[in-house]
Formats: sequence, structure tokens, C-alpha cells
Amino acid sequence: MNHPEITLILARASNGVIGARGKMPWHIPADLRRFKQLTMGRPMIMGRRTFDSLPAVLEGRRHIVLTRDPEWQDENAEVAHSVEQALRLANAPHVMVIGGAEIYRLFLDTADRIELTEVTIAPDGDALIAYPDDADWREVGRDAHPADDAGRPAYSFVTFVRR
Ligand SMILES: NC(=O)c1ccc[n+]([C@@H]2O[C@H](COP(=O)([O-])OP(=O)(O)OC[C@H]3O[C@@H](n4cnc5c(N)ncnc54)[C@H](OP(=O)(O)O)[C@@H]3O)[C@@H](O)[C@H]2O)c1
Repeated sequence: MNHPEITLILARASNGVIGARGKMPWHIPADLRRFKQLTMGRPMIMGRRTFDSLPAVLEGRRHIVLTRDPEWQDENAEVAHSVEQALRLANAPHVMVIGGAEIYRLFLDTADRIELTEVTIAPDGDALIAYPDDADWREVGRDAHPADDAGRPAYSFVTFVRR
């Protein structure tokens, strides 16, 4: 299928955890700023559980929500029931897939780029993803930040492109 450029954007702990009981088990303001910067003005595709976990609508971006439930709707969401339908609906040159774990796996084979925040902790969680497979993904950028005095963990912004 002819598709737009697809970027997966996620933050992942060292043990693979990306979420715990519907939340992200860390708070890194710089990561939220980077997320905003990279997604602004681009359609975002997400799973219904991730949409439900958002504290508020993210301004300046369309929320395309994947669900299997034919009845599901929300005034702030555009609803899709398949990858193809979500991409058709986005109808943009560059779309951002923002998770969670199920939706990340759904798009992994078609994505062109991964913007991963590696968070150097190992929290409990119930949503996990594998580290990008070196056979498929080439690291092209890494920007490391140390832990801070306020107890925030060390993290790195890492960019991968498909080999
Ligand atoms: N660290 C990060 O960067 C990050 C980013 C995003 C989310 N998260 C965390 O990840 C967790 C949520 O992830 P998750 O894996 O549980 O859920 P998710 O991927 O956000 O959403 C899963 C839902 O997507 C729908 N879906 C899945 N496959 C589908 C398909 N083939 N066709 C149509 N719809 C489909 C289903 O919705 P229905 O049940 O409605 O049918 C399913 O329940 C939360 O804890 C959240 O905080 C973390």
C-alpha cells in the first residue's frame, strides 16, 4: 500500500514497560515537550486505551483513534477500525503513531521511523514493547540526559530509521 511517512513515538523503560494501569510510570517534562514538538500539526493515530488515558485533548493535533467497537465515539476523536482506514482518514504526508503497546505492534511493520525515549528505570507495568530489532532498524541519533537532583531518571532521545 502507498502510505504516508509513519513515525512511531514512544517512551520505554529499560525493562520494556511503556504503561502501568493506563498511565505512564514516570514524569519527564522534557519528554512531554519533545512529544509536543514532534507531533504538533500532524495527525496522531492511537489506540482507544491511550486516548482514554489522555488527561486532555492535545491542541493543534487530530486524534485518530483505533477501536474494534463499532459503537465507540467521542467528540474529540476521529474513529478508525483498521490501520488502512486510519491512514486514509489521516490523509497527510506524515502521521505520528503515539501508542500504546498494541497499536505500536500493529504499525511496526509499516513504520518508517521510530522516535524512542529510553527511560533508565525498570518500573512495574502492564503495557510493554520490545526494543527496536537491530535487523530492521538503524539508530541515526542519540541524545542522552543524566538523572537530575529532583529524582528524575536518566533518559535518551533515540531516533531509528528502517534499514
Ligand atoms: N510510554 C509511552 O510512550 C506511551 C504511549 C502511549 C500509551 N502508553 C501507555 O500504554 C498503555 C495503553 O496501551 P495498550 O497497549 O494497553 O492499549 P492501546 O494500544 O492504547 O489501545 C488498545 C486498543 O486499541 C484498539 N485496537 C487494538 N488493535 C486494533 C485493531 N487491529 N483494529 C482496531 N482497533 C484495535 C482496541 O480498542 P477497543 O478495546 O476499543 O476495541 C484496543 O483495546 C497505557 O498505560 C498508556 O499510558 C504509553
